[in-house]
Amino acid sequence: MRHFELLLLFLLLCSPCLFSVSDGRTVRPVKRDAPSPPIRAVNLGGWLVTEGWILPSLFDDIPNKDLLDGTQLQFKSVTQNMYLCAEQGGGTILVANRTSASGWETFKLWRINEDTFDLRVFDNLFVTVAGDGVTVVATVASPGPGEAFQIVRNGDKTRARIRAPNGMFLQAKTSDSVTADYDGETNWGDDDPSVFVVTRVGGLQGEYQICNGYGKAKATQVLREHWRTYIVESDFKFISTSGLNAVRIPVGWWIASDPNPPAPFVGGSLQALDNAFKWAEKYNLGVIVDLHAAPGSQNPFEHSASRDGSQDWGTTDANIAQTVQVIDFLTHRYASSPSLLAVELLNEPLAPGVTLPALMRYYKDGYNAVRKYTSTAYVVMSNRLSASNTELLDFAAGFPGAVLDVHYYNLFTSSFNGLTVDQNIDYVRTNRSDELSTVTRPNGPLTFVGEWVAEWNVQGASNQDYQRFAQAQLDVYGRATFGWAYWTYKNVNNHWSMQWNIQNGIISLKS
Ligand SMILES: *[C@@H]1O[C@H](CO)[C@@H](O)[C@H](O)[C@H]1NC(C)=O
Ligand SMILES: *[C@@H]1O[C@H](CO)[C@@H](O)[C@H](O)[C@H]1NC(C)=O
Repeated sequence: MRHFELLLLFLLLCSPCLFSVSDGRTVRPVKRDAPSPPIRAVNLGGWLVTEGWILPSLFDDIPNKDLLDGTQLQFKSVTQNMYLCAEQGGGTILVANRTSASGWETFKLWRINEDTFDLRVFDNLFVTVAGDGVTVVATVASPGPGEAFQIVRNGDKTRARIRAPNGMFLQAKTSDSVTADYDGETNWGDDDPSVFVVTRVGGLQGEYQICNGYGKAKATQVLREHWRTYIVESDFKFISTSGLNAVRIPVGWWIASDPNPPAPFVGGSLQALDNAFKWAEKYNLGVIVDLHAAPGSQNPFEHSASRDGSQDWGTTDANIAQTVQVIDFLTHRYASSPSLLAVELLNEPLAPGVTLPALMRYYKDGYNAVRKYTSTAYVVMSNRLSASNTELLDFAAGFPGAVLDVHYYNLFTSSFNGLTVDQNIDYVRTNRSDELSTVTRPNGPLTFVGEWVAEWNVQGASNQDYQRFAQAQLDVYGRATFGWAYWTYKNVNNHWSMQWNIQNGIISLKS
């Protein structure tokens, strides 16, 4: 070959992997053995960021494991036959005069120990006892010892009494006054104004809950064992021999301060991520490092490690800067690995809590943090949930090597209720296909269906139905220009497990 042909070949081969940094510098590419798009990946969900539904047994040994951080309780006074309520949603007295329960009648737990909690009300204030020593109010912004209430439950846990920091139990003497002045024993009868019927209406099983639920020493033991045994080298071998070429690994922000992360998080997940890179290199798999849980939580779900369902990410410059530091740390650590395929800056930010300007500012700074260390790693930017799927297209197009992540589930909204097998498949082939075409533009970012699953709301579907549904998704998502990643690799719910799907012939990736 003549020289210019060689040069042309070199340019053709390397043009997609050489990105110039936004300040004009060009970072030399490392040799990358990781695969190139199209990526066919699987998420390693429930490994380094806890999600209880993926492996519920992790929570088994937590005392009062139904009362973790973020658990939502409603209390009905047995004497008034009315629900306890933070009047106005907070900022004033508690009353017991509501016949039905909704937001103002729901109390979120912040767990201090297995039976002592701060009680957070609708407007995010905490319950306390007023200066008169008896009136119960919800007026405290940051809880301290004066806001620690003990929840004492009866044998079958259907009834509870609430002991105030002054040692007295709360009672609903009348429907519009709740006081902390009941002393004495109870037989849990309907005549005791300190007894409430308790209903649990929600709860989370994320990293915050498991760590704070066990406490530091036990959580360290339980999670290190989980990190060491849940995903092992043979899983990477299985993945690489099944027709997959990458893994997407959800991580939490606390990994950047390993081995001593802020409470309640515990150290050790970084060692597991190091192992993942070692095995990925051995089996020629790409790694997409995915910041799944950002400081303050970018959505209210347990997988963003929210304490109680509140979402505060991106509301201050310091919070965004801290998140950029996490990306900086991770990229610095793994940039020299030939398996570092991509860094995903943030998983599933939820609108409107995460604003578009805050997200764009973060994505720009996060992108530049990645480009400090590598010109070859792709930088994945997730669309905001509950926002237009095109809002980031022009923005992301300005960053070489940017990838737009969209998540496609035939679940979670009522529009999928009652759909038949064929209607679900048509939805993928028509509507999802259209959506993906809309976000895949010639000069736009590459596109990535970073989460999807062969599960739906259809009851009693046959293996063949599942096979057809999975194949439809593989066909359509296979047109994403970066690729796709199944959610997830292992799961006690079989259809959510890529491993199970492959082992049972539902999904076959080998041609
Ligand atoms: C509950 O009691 C408070 C305090 O007396 C009162 O302002 C409010 O109107 C009552 N609400 C209902 C639904 O009875
Ligand atoms: C899917 O697309 C079809 C054809 O464009 C449309 O008629 C239908 O309403 C869409 N379905 C949903 C659930 O959005």
